[in-house]
Amino acid sequence: MTRAARLLAAMTLEEKLGQLTMAAGTQALTGPVAGGAVEAEIAAGRVGSLLNLWGADDVAAAQKAARGARLGIPLFFGFDVLHGHRTVFPIPLAEACAFDPELWRRTAAAAAHEARADGLTMVFAPMVDVARDPRWGRITEGPGEDPYVASLFSVAKVTGFQGPDLARGGAAACVKHFCAYGAAEGGRDYASVDVSERAVAEVYAPPFAAALAAGCAALMPAFMDLAGVPMTAHRPLLEGWLRRKLGFEGVIVSDYNAVAELIVHGVAGGRAEAAAMALQAGVDVDMMSFCYRDSLPEALDRGLASMDRIDAAVSRVLALKEKLGLFEAEPSVHPVAAPVEDAGALALEAARRSIVLLTNRGALPLAGDARVIALIGPLADAAEEMDGPWAAAGRRADAVSIRRGLEAALPQAEIVYAQGVAIDGADFSGASRALDACRTADVVILCLGESAPMSGEAASRTSLGLPGRQGELARAAIDVARERGVPAVVLLSSGRPIVAPALFEAADAVLATWFLGEAAGCAIADVLTGRADAVGRLPVSWPRAEGQIPVYFAQRPTGRPFRAEDSYTSRYLDCANEPQFAFGHGLSYASLALVSFEIDRRAFRFGDELRFFVGLRNAGARDGEATVFLFSRDLAASVARPLLELRRFGRIALRAGEAGTLEFVLPARELAFPGADLEPAFEPGAFEFSVGFSADRAGLVTLAAQALA
Ligand code: NOJ
Repeated sequence: MTRAARLLAAMTLEEKLGQLTMAAGTQALTGPVAGGAVEAEIAAGRVGSLLNLWGADDVAAAQKAARGARLGIPLFFGFDVLHGHRTVFPIPLAEACAFDPELWRRTAAAAAHEARADGLTMVFAPMVDVARDPRWGRITEGPGEDPYVASLFSVAKVTGFQGPDLARGGAAACVKHFCAYGAAEGGRDYASVDVSERAVAEVYAPPFAAALAAGCAALMPAFMDLAGVPMTAHRPLLEGWLRRKLGFEGVIVSDYNAVAELIVHGVAGGRAEAAAMALQAGVDVDMMSFCYRDSLPEALDRGLASMDRIDAAVSRVLALKEKLGLFEAEPSVHPVAAPVEDAGALALEAARRSIVLLTNRGALPLAGDARVIALIGPLADAAEEMDGPWAAAGRRADAVSIRRGLEAALPQAEIVYAQGVAIDGADFSGASRALDACRTADVVILCLGESAPMSGEAASRTSLGLPGRQGELARAAIDVARERGVPAVVLLSSGRPIVAPALFEAADAVLATWFLGEAAGCAIADVLTGRADAVGRLPVSWPRAEGQIPVYFAQRPTGRPFRAEDSYTSRYLDCANEPQFAFGHGLSYASLALVSFEIDRRAFRFGDELRFFVGLRNAGARDGEATVFLFSRDLAASVARPLLELRRFGRIALRAGEAGTLEFVLPARELAFPGADLEPAFEPGAFEFSVGFSADRAGLVTLAAQALA
């Protein structure tokens, strides 16, 4: 008999429900229900895991209480480690810009190492909700609009967090939020989602399947309902798809209070019904609603829930605790492997690679002889904003502001700082000082954007322009710069794309600097000065107007594609169809060009492997790198396929004057799509394959090939 089986056989119902109950510590508040005193509950075996408690001593004290309970089963400790634990890396949306799975893995590994040293054994991450609506504040937490990118991100993060062995320093990853949470109606957080089963199969579910295939230990269902069925009680997707079809044996952890919210959703009549619905659907652990602990006994009595289900859930929790090595470790000792790399240096590297140069009319890198720099705007000296909305246990005081980063990078320059206006609000009284600073400067740098809490959970917005009076300040400062013939550079700090078409027109250069974490200021200074090239590329289409949302590159063809000369075509009367910046967009200081595109065969069958060769040349004077995207289009299929589907991306570094080739290998079976019955279909017919530096179709090089039966 295994230890888990022995324990299960020895447990009372109360102890079993304890294993399925996750209570909160008080070091962070990440939900509406405050955590109460839990020590006595732990000692009575009525709690099996905790969230929001970390720190070796506190964790050891709680663990000691658990060990003192009748069966002495250790707790596991979970926390939102989205982009770093103590060391804060760029927000996930920013880090996605690096298009570098190995970087994604390394930052997760470093975060897990720090988390584990703090006693944490589960991270509520990665968040892999495909998001095509930047009104939704949680777009900041994930890797953007594309399911292929999200799947690679998912695998990299799970592999990084969990490491080779959960018992030797890995943290159990809890991938979230299953499924289609990013499609919240109106972009409003927690709102209902009503997307087709096809959209789930093609767009929203693949990153979860990828995480599970990579061995992800746990999964969190999303808060919202999918076509009327809350995900916390979604038996077809949890029990049917995850458990039966994909064979997932890990732990399903509800979101915070989500079991009780089944009542508010209008699907459960009371707490016993809610508990039974979640349990029977496949949810193992009840985070913070205590419905399992308090009401499953009643549900059992009434025949709403079964003991088999409870036992299966407890077994999964115990199996995870075994895998984490928790039974072996002394309460005060956590198996922490030595860090593999310097987290601070990694934070800087990740931050540099996350910056996207959106426009540049020769203003960047900054001229070496710029002596006086006017540094203007509410995000210029805002260290506390740089970590973004989900900075976990990050040491916010450690974040380097843009001002501090620039001062360190340019000790000879005179940096004249003036905030001008606040991030939000109507006060314009500080603007004149800021404009005065512009009147004597050789270059104007405007640091604009959102505050950290304007994105993230429960932070949806309908207007995605610059908040408050920042737009006016920018216009006035750019006018002064223009009159004086000096460049005006804009840095946008934000958790989502900012809609600001006039600013992109007027400024001499604009950088998306997101929330880059603790190394923000240093990384930004490196890119502004050209010490580092701008290599980030957009993982989301950047809208030019809120009314375009959802805007994403993988749209399906319409029967009436836009033609300027024909008014009965798909278009807006007041706005272009194209986004401001396409998915994949990002400029560099180096200038690499595509010179050739070849495929090894023009006809292929299901079992073949296609090889693509992309020739590039660095024609400029500066060494650099490019990110290249490979797309496909299935021209005639039984279910219309998107205009572009991303199949691969890759990066190549070339010295000045050098030429090189990037090779992509694509098994033809990946071109299958969910057919009419949503099962994979590989259909013969014409395909187009395209490569380019972004999803902007005007810049793609395309060739044709044929799928054979
Ligand atoms: C609610 C959020 O939706 C989820 O992402 C998070 O993991 C939990 N709160 C715990 O903090």
